Amino acid sequence: MSAALKPYPLLGHLPFWAGDPLALLEGHAAQADFFELRLGVRAFVGYSPTWNKFLLSDLETFTSAGSFSKFVPYLAGGVILKDAPHHKPRRTDLNPGFHMHALEHLRGVIGAALGPIAPTGQFDSRDWASNAVLLALNASFFEGEFDAALLEDFLTPLHDPFPAPLLPRPTLFRRVNRELQRLLEMRQATKRHDLLSYLLRFSNPLEEARISLAAGYDTTAHTLAWAAWHIANQPHWTTDLEAAIKETLRLYPPGFIGSRRASRDVMFEGQRIPRGSMVLYSPYLTHRAPTNYVAPLEWQPERFASSPPAWAYLPFGGGERICLGMHLANLIIRSALETLLTHPLRPVRGDPTPKPGLTLAPRAALMLER
Ligand code: HEM
Repeated sequence: MSAALKPYPLLGHLPFWAGDPLALLEGHAAQADFFELRLGVRAFVGYSPTWNKFLLSDLETFTSAGSFSKFVPYLAGGVILKDAPHHKPRRTDLNPGFHMHALEHLRGVIGAALGPIAPTGQFDSRDWASNAVLLALNASFFEGEFDAALLEDFLTPLHDPFPAPLLPRPTLFRRVNRELQRLLEMRQATKRHDLLSYLLRFSNPLEEARISLAAGYDTTAHTLAWAAWHIANQPHWTTDLEAAIKETLRLYPPGFIGSRRASRDVMFEGQRIPRGSMVLYSPYLTHRAPTNYVAPLEWQPERFASSPPAWAYLPFGGGERICLGMHLANLIIRSALETLLTHPLRPVRGDPTPKPGLTLAPRAALMLER
């Protein structure tokens, strides 16, 4: 059994957090489903469905201001940093354009963008998936008109180990903003049917677009890479992509940890959480808890023949802050897999073990042959 790691006198658990956050989380989770870490501030972590519901259903008490996102330039802005009472009206604006039915017209657009990159011979699923998601995001948000090399330069640091995703990149961000401004003006002149045109009707469209690209890139790419790997290993799941994708997101939830700040003193199961504390939920720990899933470390899509327990399946978070792009992500992953699976796929070699960075990523190459 993993052991809880003892905090250092001054630095607390920060060195472990920076080095291997999954080992730190798993060590504590093996002892209790609710525990405290010292991450510069007091940080309370839970992974029971009760904690997930408690944390994710109360936007007044648990705020985004002061959460980890605030320290990641890629994510610090737009709806991600809005708190009650401003968050709800913003989501009410944004949700309709990201609804499953509203995105339906993008299915063909995404499929057309991905067809030409369907690989032949041996390839690394991670590289193919990253490329596919870049093209699909470009097609969905900008009808493919965003400078492809700039989009790649902008988003690839998200794959890199810390501290790369946390570094400010003022010149790069200025170039991205200029490109977004150019595309916005084109849409003001001529109507289009892409997501940028949808965002145009609200305040701050440029920032919302930039934040969504960042939130949607490596999360979707890593899920796609893992899904292709597991389907190549168990090809009968080609006929049930929905279950295969759900199970991939259960075993490897890219957003392995979510954070908030407590805006007041609050009690949870007899424990006082003081105002100002960090409060964390972990889809990774919840999804891998034997109390929630049978054989939790196995990739078994058949488990989705019945619904998972309430608040025990949250790859896209939950409550009012649930991922804005979850239907878009599903559409991209599904379209990309459909393009790939028109020919038989065979695993060559790979290690799907997750490695934590800003999101979870496959630790090593996932070589496939098509
Ligand atoms: C498989 C792919 C994805 C995963 C696993 C994922 C996961 C998540 C999670 C866990 C959250 C909630 C974070 C929290 O509670 O603090 C979230 C929020 C968000 N996601 Fe995603 N995401 C994915 C794809 C996307 C895409 C494609 C977009 C593009 C629109 C996107 C945009 C956002 C935004 C804007 C938020 C903030 C919502 C708010 O605070 O109201 N995500 N995502």
